[in-house]
Amino acid sequence: MRQTDAEAMRVNLDHWNELAPIHARSDFYDVDGFKSGRSTLMPIEVEEVGGVAGKSLLHLQCHFGLDTMSWARLGARVTGVDFSDRAITLARSLSAELGIDARFVLSNVYDLPGSLDDRFDVVFTSYGALYWLPDLPAWAGVVSHFLKPGGIFYVVDDHPTANVFDEESGGIRLKWPYFNRGVPMISEPDGYGSYADETAVVTTPECGWSHSMSDILGSIIGAGLRIERLREFPFAAYRALRMMERGADGWWRLPEHPDLPAGAESLPFLFSVRASKPR
Ligand SMILES: C[S@@+](CC[C@H](N)C(=O)[O-])C[C@H]1O[C@@H](n2cnc3c(N)ncnc32)[C@H](O)[C@@H]1O
Repeated sequence: MRQTDAEAMRVNLDHWNELAPIHARSDFYDVDGFKSGRSTLMPIEVEEVGGVAGKSLLHLQCHFGLDTMSWARLGARVTGVDFSDRAITLARSLSAELGIDARFVLSNVYDLPGSLDDRFDVVFTSYGALYWLPDLPAWAGVVSHFLKPGGIFYVVDDHPTANVFDEESGGIRLKWPYFNRGVPMISEPDGYGSYADETAVVTTPECGWSHSMSDILGSIIGAGLRIERLREFPFAAYRALRMMERGADGWWRLPEHPDLPAGAESLPFLFSVRASKPR
């Protein structure tokens, strides 16, 4: 891996260690609701992953583990992985407090094959994962490494088209390239907070990488997985653009706007892929 990518991931580690406790206090993550039994999974992934009872499930970039433990509540034997020590500490303490059987591993996704021996029925990752990864072919190699033959890989994440906009503009303004330029895009703290708490004071910069849809699909195919299903959705899991409005179903959608064609469903904000590892 290029040195610049390693440095950028160190920047991101500080960023995520700052965000983990902020997010654990946020209404967005609603930890109290989770403790009372609320699932943090959305219907899209529950339906597309299918039944997990009795299956082993590896959750990459699990943050502080609410989705991982929600899969456990559905009967999966779960392992969550994240490189943020503060997130993993939080996840472990929540699972101990709630008596949820879950294993949490502190690791950079790229280093995981060196620290985990198991193979899994399902590898899962979601909502804000790929943007933080510099090298998708290497990431897809890790996914494939951990899948049993016949196992399922599932990702639901921000659509690459949605990542090109200036999220703080009141309108539709391009800010970032659609195609990966091979170098991290650096965002300094700008007073906006985070997707889970827009009022939070965040002091650390972040580095991200754009990945086109062909890069994403190509990396999965290149790792030897067979794509079974690809979907695109006209709504986001968080307020991806200032102008978006939240529906009763929890998704954020574009309103009618002079910069957009009439009829609000004009752009994809999420995509999902279900793929399998050939036997
Ligand atoms: C947007 S969050 C994922 C949110 C998750 N879907 C949820 O709602 O709980 C991204 C996560 O990726 C983790 N992360 C970023 N880069 C990583 C890397 N290279 N290896 C492991 N974890 C990483 C961060 O620590 C953070 O917890």
